[in-house]
Amino acid sequence: MSVSALFLLSSLCLVITAQGQQCSKPVGRQNMQLKDEYINKKTFEDGSTVAFVCDVGYTPVQDSGVIRCNAGIWSPLQLICERSNCGSLGEVPNGQVSYPQGTQFGDKALITCNTGYKLVGKSEITCGTQGWLDRLPTCEVAKCLQPSGIANGMFSPQKEDYTYREVVEYSCNKDYTLNGSKQITCEENNTFKPSPPSCIWVECKDPVIPNAVYIDGSRPPHRHKATVIYNCKHGYKMNGQGTLTCNISSQWYPRIPECISNGNAVVGGSLGGLVSITVMLVQNYWM
Ligand SMILES: *[C@@H]1O[C@H](CO)[C@@H](O)[C@H](O)[C@H]1NC(C)=O
Ligand SMILES: *[C@@H]1O[C@H](CO)[C@@H](O)[C@H](O)[C@H]1NC(C)=O
Ligand SMILES: *[C@@H]1O[C@H](CO)[C@@H](O)[C@H](O)[C@H]1NC(C)=O
Repeated sequence: MSVSALFLLSSLCLVITAQGQQCSKPVGRQNMQLKDEYINKKTFEDGSTVAFVCDVGYTPVQDSGVIRCNAGIWSPLQLICERSNCGSLGEVPNGQVSYPQGTQFGDKALITCNTGYKLVGKSEITCGTQGWLDRLPTCEVAKCLQPSGIANGMFSPQKEDYTYREVVEYSCNKDYTLNGSKQITCEENNTFKPSPPSCIWVECKDPVIPNAVYIDGSRPPHRHKATVIYNCKHGYKMNGQGTLTCNISSQWYPRIPECISNGNAVVGGSLGGLVSITVMLVQNYWM
């Protein structure tokens, strides 16, 4: 046998053995797996190829996941899988976007609106495999619907809706008193605060104070804040205060006083009477 023949034979042998060498199931790196069609195979023919794909939520950064069985050895796997990153969502006019966890797969972006603006849409958006799973919401200026009307009064301005911070002012019909806040404001909650006032009828009865005399002040009807001043008759002492104001509960404030006859005053009074009778008698006598 010639040398060349021997060489031919040996290389032929090599080819045969190489052809016979299959590959066992390849193992990938982190965050990747064999494509479904290869999962159930245990051995792979020489020269055959398989492909790896990234797990859900992971993105191939180095391209090909295909490897080839060469005489029992798999060609090097190029694929690298990194957690998908959705990046920035962009900006929301009149609002803020924050990423407390980050912008990778499964992370959530939180969207809030500035005060006076109302969020329309989702306030939380999750990063998926193909990017963010929802559209950005919008921040719309808060509006209030017309507040409720009140009996015996009105409010202005009258409109269909009101913008954030807009003020509505109430007033009462003649002789009615406003109880509550005259002004209410459209707040971020699409509601007016505080709640509307009411118009109430305030009238204090003319005070009846035995042994007192009316000095000055309001005459009936006594409306809210009307003031009257009383003094006690001579010989009586006041328990309480002589100046009274009609309060919103239709009551005099402070409480209606009392005029108490004090001992001295009574004696003085009768003595005074006695003196005047004496004077009269004396006068009569001399005339
Ligand atoms: C809206 O108002 C209600 C009642 O005052 C309050 O409980 C709620 O927290 C408010 N909502 C917002 C978003 O401010
Ligand atoms: C005034 O309004 C307040 C709050 O609504 C209420 O509690 C009070 O009873 C009202 N006063 C009168 C005199 O109606
Ligand atoms: C009104 O006056 C009465 C009697 O003086 C008092 O008890 C009440 O607290 C007053 N009410 C208000 C709202 O000031």
